[in-house]
Amino acid sequence: MCGIMGYIGTQSAQEILLNGLEHLSYRGYDSAGVAVQKENRLQIVKTRGRIDLLRQKCQDTPLDGTLGIGHTRWATHGPANDLNAHPHTDARGRIAIVHNGVIENHAQLRQMLTARGFVFRSDTDTECAAHLLRLLYDGDMLRTLLLAARYLTGSYAIAALCADDPSALYCIRSGSPLILGTREGESYLSSDIPALLPYTRELTVPEDGEAAVLRRSGIYLFSAKGQRRRAQTFHVSWDMQSAEKGVYPHFMLKEIHEQPQALHSPPIIRKLPARAPSQAVLLGCGTAYHACLLGAYYMERLAGIPAFPEIASEYRSRIAFPYRDCACIAVSQSGETADTISAARMAKARGAVLVTLTNTLGSTLERMSPAALLTPAGPELSVASTKAYTAQALALLQLALRWGRMRGTLQEALSEQQLLHLPHWAQEMLSSSSAIQAYIEPRADQPLFFFIGRGADAVTAREAALKFKEITYTPAESYPAGELKHGAIALIHEGMPVIAICTQPEWLHKTLVNLSECRARGAECVCFCLPHMEKDAREAADHVFVLPDMPPLLAPIISVIPLQLLAYYAACKKGLDVDKPRNLAKSVTVE
Ligand code: AGP
Repeated sequence: MCGIMGYIGTQSAQEILLNGLEHLSYRGYDSAGVAVQKENRLQIVKTRGRIDLLRQKCQDTPLDGTLGIGHTRWATHGPANDLNAHPHTDARGRIAIVHNGVIENHAQLRQMLTARGFVFRSDTDTECAAHLLRLLYDGDMLRTLLLAARYLTGSYAIAALCADDPSALYCIRSGSPLILGTREGESYLSSDIPALLPYTRELTVPEDGEAAVLRRSGIYLFSAKGQRRRAQTFHVSWDMQSAEKGVYPHFMLKEIHEQPQALHSPPIIRKLPARAPSQAVLLGCGTAYHACLLGAYYMERLAGIPAFPEIASEYRSRIAFPYRDCACIAVSQSGETADTISAARMAKARGAVLVTLTNTLGSTLERMSPAALLTPAGPELSVASTKAYTAQALALLQLALRWGRMRGTLQEALSEQQLLHLPHWAQEMLSSSSAIQAYIEPRADQPLFFFIGRGADAVTAREAALKFKEITYTPAESYPAGELKHGAIALIHEGMPVIAICTQPEWLHKTLVNLSECRARGAECVCFCLPHMEKDAREAADHVFVLPDMPPLLAPIISVIPLQLLAYYAACKKGLDVDKPRNLAKSVTVE
């Protein structure tokens, strides 16, 4: 939610900020703005809308200078308009800030500042931080920032420029992501790694509550008490191409096509506990929660470990039983999802051993966990998550196998050879893209879709429906197939697409009966099934898509791919912005 970028060096700040914001625009795209410092003056350009509009405005009014900050917004307080766009400044335009996060006590601060004569120009929570900095400013921006932080509650990563100080860029973080990078004569800050990849791969992450001063000579970290801490850098191996669309029209299509690669290698493991737990709680949101559902299925089915998947934002309202011998697996592509972070903290406080499964090295969740699994999916930039999901599902399956072996409770053997074949099945799946496209395009305007399945296939149905809603804006329901007749079947109408996923032999016939029930009520029925199920599927469905011949246990990792494509082609047909669906942001850093 919101992306911030900052630069100090020798090149045009405007250009670097605009390029960086383009990479960050998946985090929000309601408005954008930059502030560039020239000698003792701050120049600001901002606009409602996306980065290309900002770029146009900057062409009309080029900003000269080698020190600046930029922002791309996902609106939380106040509509998407020019006034609410960041950067925000104090009344004299001498201090400019950009902010990612939510200042929860903004109403009280606004009241206090208004009473002291400060005049607000926007509806944002951020503006109160700009005025607060002015109120506290004593000529030393670092000291002022640290002092202001004592008055702010909520989550924030703030970058600030001060017109009096043309040799430094300041920032501070609490609960929101902030990545710092440096190379000869230049320092950078950003909300995420991909925006920094064109410039540097030597990165630093300030601890929560820490501030940093970025100079041309390097990065200087300071604790909340103002004590200097030596910055530790880490190296990211993601390459530039991984953050570019390349030959693909959208990041989503590129990322769908990167799944064979994402399934190629196991996750990188950092310090997993030597003993397997006797139970597991899995926490995540959205697609990551669906990976938790699949993970719990694997934990129980393969390792005999009782496993409890939980929606992270709901987990917090659960009664706090203390845990014994329990692992909490926090699943998050970004590692920055506020709900997942809070829930993981709670599980940790209840006594669970925290294991983070993330795609993002250096993210908040990764850093707060004693143990982590890092998926090798590479940066995922489309708001709709695809390759992260399949990589998470595989990582959880591998963890279940590992724990099952350790406990001597492995229930069903899967050979290494079978796992190694996953990328080939993913590739085979991708080669059926045109059949999926041909099916969905004439139906893209249908008003309602149903996705059904049983067991692990019900998880795939949920993920398919989420993807469909998210990027096509079409209502899509997912139901465990057997549950339909308990109410939702009332929604079935003539010609409505009902899509069944059938990869689990033990449930095939029951699901097909449920599909026939829909067909009898006028639905147009579709079935995705394994080859040996095709004949039966054709009896119940109007359209059958045959998946590769793979072990049913692995099928949920692959069968989601055509359903991602289904959503993708429907959204394209409707002419929608696939990578940046309305109202959404990639990284949800507010609760
Ligand atoms: C998926 O397509 C969504 N955009 C969303 O549900 C996402 O999976 C969720 O917000 C969790 O994100 P995370 O994996 O970065 O924690």
